[in-house]
Amino acid sequence: MRINLIGAGRLGQTLGRLLSQHHTLGEVLTRSTGSAQAAVDFIGQGQPVSNLQDMQDADVWLLAVPDRHIADVAKALSERPGLRPSVVVHGSGAYTSELLAPLQAQGWLTASAHCLLSFAQPELAVTQFKGVVCAIEGDAKALAILTPLMTDVGAQCFEIDAQHKLSYHAAAVWATNFLPVLQHTAEQLWQGVGMPEPMVQQLRTQLLSLAVNNVLTLGPQGALTGPASRGDSTLVQAQGHALTTSDPLVGTAYLALSELAAKMAGQSIR
Ligand SMILES: NC(=O)c1ccc[n+]([C@@H]2O[C@H](COP(=O)([O-])OP(=O)(O)OC[C@H]3O[C@@H](n4cnc5c(N)ncnc54)[C@H](OP(=O)(O)O)[C@@H]3O)[C@@H](O)[C@H]2O)c1
Repeated sequence: MRINLIGAGRLGQTLGRLLSQHHTLGEVLTRSTGSAQAAVDFIGQGQPVSNLQDMQDADVWLLAVPDRHIADVAKALSERPGLRPSVVVHGSGAYTSELLAPLQAQGWLTASAHCLLSFAQPELAVTQFKGVVCAIEGDAKALAILTPLMTDVGAQCFEIDAQHKLSYHAAAVWATNFLPVLQHTAEQLWQGVGMPEPMVQQLRTQLLSLAVNNVLTLGPQGALTGPASRGDSTLVQAQGHALTTSDPLVGTAYLALSELAAKMAGQSIR
């Protein structure tokens, strides 16, 4: 298959490199010839371009631009004369193939495919990609082409209903993005009560890795400890109040998370 790439940053370069091992990469479009050339150098295949007019037909078009640009790029592609409608897919986790509506209206087969991995660096992501979970949704004919395409490069695909994409992606935020927030908040509180910095750093290694190990060994429910899990509502309220006086947001978050913890443990702290 011939695959064209629009947007070649972290996701685009990673998928470009992986897919080009099985297929032919056509044009690679970014906002500047320099970054398109750098992406092609990393991928090892493809023709760098900085103008949509310089792109030829392809069997699959992968839009790996930031979420906020997907709709504009889809519109521009739909207005580009002379292209053969084919499969077009974007890589957003939260948004659906609905963003590609102008192309769908012209007979393109539209889909979204979200790989559940933090693509921090293409070099690293290529090595981490095997077995990655990939949520796909869209036109059934597009999915029939997309599923083997992604499976061949190591993804595990599952079909998601478009209406669930926001929740699905929010779950990924819970699982990955909030962990640093929790750690940062705890460290700020320890620093605020005068704990020596080496101890704060020691706790980062010790407590955090033990907590992760416990979740991996016992599951989230088995690993849960703390006042909310014991149903100690007096202590939870007192701590929430103490935190609120210095930072209302931290206090509110503490009480909300404590309620979730109590619910997990089958306790009530109301
Ligand atoms: N990064 C992740 O961990 C991750 C994980 C899963 C899914 N995704 C999804 O992957 C998609 C891309 O994210 P990313 O992190 O790879 O972004 P990124 O690293 O910022 O790369 C974006 C790329 O899009 C290009 N671009 C931006 N606007 C464009 C336009 N109008 N026309 C053509 N190219 C344009 C940029 O060009 P320049 O190089 O010239 O700036 C750059 O090559 C998003 O939908 C995101 O939700 C990301």
